[in-house]
Amino acid sequence: APMGDFITGLPKAELHLHIEGSLEPELMFALAERNGVAIPYANIEEIRAAYHFSRLQDFLDIYYAGAAVLLTVRDFHDLAAAYFDRAAADGVVHAEIMFDPQTHTARGVSFDTVITGLLSAMEEAETKHGMTTKLILSFLRHLDEADAFETLEAARPWLDRIAAVGLDSSELGHPPEKFARVFAAARALGLKSVAHAGEEGPPDYVYQALDLLAIDRLDHGNRSLEDPVLVARLARTAMTLTVCPLSNLKLCVVDDMVAHPIDRMLRAGLRATVNSDDPAYFGGYIADNYRAVEAARGLTRADLVTLARNSFLGSFLPDDAVAAHL
Ligand code: HPA
Ligand code: ZN
Repeated sequence: APMGDFITGLPKAELHLHIEGSLEPELMFALAERNGVAIPYANIEEIRAAYHFSRLQDFLDIYYAGAAVLLTVRDFHDLAAAYFDRAAADGVVHAEIMFDPQTHTARGVSFDTVITGLLSAMEEAETKHGMTTKLILSFLRHLDEADAFETLEAARPWLDRIAAVGLDSSELGHPPEKFARVFAAARALGLKSVAHAGEEGPPDYVYQALDLLAIDRLDHGNRSLEDPVLVARLARTAMTLTVCPLSNLKLCVVDDMVAHPIDRMLRAGLRATVNSDDPAYFGGYIADNYRAVEAARGLTRADLVTLARNSFLGSFLPDDAVAAHL
């Protein structure tokens, strides 16, 4: 379809992608065999069949269990290389990928193993696909502040390779304020910051992410729309929202794609972007996400161009590189 070709051909940045969430069932199965790790699935079809969620936590339980097959530098390299190949095919020219080090250090896999594999795939993607890439270290918010501080400490030798810190996992009951001091420490080290807020959590969590974490970018942010004062502030400050339509559908943040607020966000003057979140679990990569909202909400080509422009404006690329993409 011409619109599908237009979407794929549109140069875009991906700003909200959990690399562990790009673990396709085929690779999960292959790594389980390669590493002799038991997984609770007999075959690839059983893995896919398990991917039905009615809330964020249903997904997280399966996502953390799946990550158990990742053990070696080569595993993390192969995981990220597969993502970059897939993203390049969707017209991604710049990707800022998140990783969850605590998911791995808790299993005895070192921070250095994880980041070494990811960085080698990033370097490879830059030469193979001519992409630029950045890395975001995301803290698990269901764990405590001390655990996040230990993770930041483990990152110290790698700070020149890390663009930002992030905050993900179970949102309800784990408000941003829990991590205010860790984010302040990260900022003092020169890192930028992002946080998931307003996916399942209330607008108050978005205010906390802005006021207490001083985030540079807001992941999801959907529930901000419940608060017109907050919407006006996000618009006035040109805060980037990294919206993930297929994730929103699978995790029941929206009941139906025809009710997705992406175009309302744009009309409200928000700097919204479209991203894939956990593409192996939510049924599609970034172009599938653009196509889903285009079809369900009747987005125009001008809207799609705006979304792609916003992705560069909201990136952590230097100003001259952003300008070169506009
Ligand atoms: N929300 C919170 N935590 C996550 C997500 C998400 O969408 N994806 C991976 N970890
Ligand atoms: Zn996410």
